Amino acid sequence: GLGFYTGTDGYLYVDNLRIDDIRAQVPDSPFYLYSKNRITANYKAYAAALEGLEHFVGYAVKANNNLPIMRHLQSLGSGAVLVSGNELRAAEAAGFDTTRTIFNGNGKLPEELRLAIEKGALINVDSEFDLENIAEAAKAVDKAARVLIRINPDVDPQVHAYVSTGLANSKFGIRNSHLQWFLDRVRQEPLLELAGVHSHLGSTITKVDIFRDAARIMIRFVEKIREEGFDIKYLNIGGGLGIDYHRRGDKIPSPADLVNTVRDLVADLGLTMILEPGRSMIGNASALVNTVTGVKTNGNKNFIVIDGSMSALLRPSLYDAYQHIELTAPCNGKQDTFDIVGPVCESADFLGKERELATPKAGDGLVVHDAGAYCMAMASTYNLKMRPAEYWVSDGELKQIRKGETLQDHLRYFEGL
Ligand code: LLP
Repeated sequence: GLGFYTGTDGYLYVDNLRIDDIRAQVPDSPFYLYSKNRITANYKAYAAALEGLEHFVGYAVKANNNLPIMRHLQSLGSGAVLVSGNELRAAEAAGFDTTRTIFNGNGKLPEELRLAIEKGALINVDSEFDLENIAEAAKAVDKAARVLIRINPDVDPQVHAYVSTGLANSKFGIRNSHLQWFLDRVRQEPLLELAGVHSHLGSTITKVDIFRDAARIMIRFVEKIREEGFDIKYLNIGGGLGIDYHRRGDKIPSPADLVNTVRDLVADLGLTMILEPGRSMIGNASALVNTVTGVKTNGNKNFIVIDGSMSALLRPSLYDAYQHIELTAPCNGKQDTFDIVGPVCESADFLGKERELATPKAGDGLVVHDAGAYCMAMASTYNLKMRPAEYWVSDGELKQIRKGETLQDHLRYFEGL
């Protein structure tokens, strides 16, 4: 098996290992558990989809910044997409060739821009002030900055408002009507090299048509920019592909479906295509493994209380996101409808609502699936529930890939003050 599935014996597995056997070996709970082979397969799906096109895949590190995971993606051939100086430093620590990285963001700091230019990263221009900051930083380090202009395609990705980024009123990208100003400013600055255009529509996208709509719009910009005499190379259509969070076999487009909707549009333009996947690279390669603390009923609601919480995994609380939940072992408790909640002191602390499950017992295992992207990366220590340890199964063997955070880590911030 590859990734997470229910075996013929009714137990939940990751690759070849029973999750309950893993739980018996691991001292921590909750913990994040990954399938390294699933990550490899996800990367290879992108690489295969892009065959025949000049391309570069930039893994969006924001989705998961675990160092062994980053190192693994790097070893497979991935580049990296970054949103902070620290992400750039972490990518370098993981072995990424920093000239194959892209530095994105609407609020890049002067110090971060200097670092990115020194390291040879591609840099997205997001606004007028951002362009001025990039030009200043290039002068400060006396090195040319290779930039992409982030177009705002104003295409609705039809996703939750919090993860929608390419609409006219969003905080990202340039005012398209002001393009000429950007071209003129780049022309005046000898240390700015216009290398391409970028857009990112949003995240959890399950309709690839909108990538074609956006690519069409971007290609009009490419033509206009070329007419102005710039020799641009990169068409970066961002990340955003969704995954099958509901795990009921919905038809979710694959990387090949995504690439094929735009292939003919980019093939003839002599452009290098860049994709920036985060979620679809890592999301389905992990689950948060929790232990049931108890079961209770209030009013007409049943609750399964687990040791994991919104501190370990925030997406349901923040976006009302659905992540599938299962028990790790066959269970003959009564089938019922439950909210799955953590121990944190607020009602937003839930991992799932109205789920049909067999009534578990204290000590049983319960997983929240598809927890590879934006879960550990967004974890906090709220209520001093410390950030979980991480493990992966690598070629059939369990290995720890991140230590659990401890209270000592927290107390250290106050030492000597
Ligand atoms: N490129 C840019 C410029 C981005 O802003 C993002 C994600 C990506 C690439 C990667 O997108 P992906 O392939 O992962 O969809 N915390 C939210 C997701 C925020 C996404 C932010 N930008 C969540 O938990 O769903």
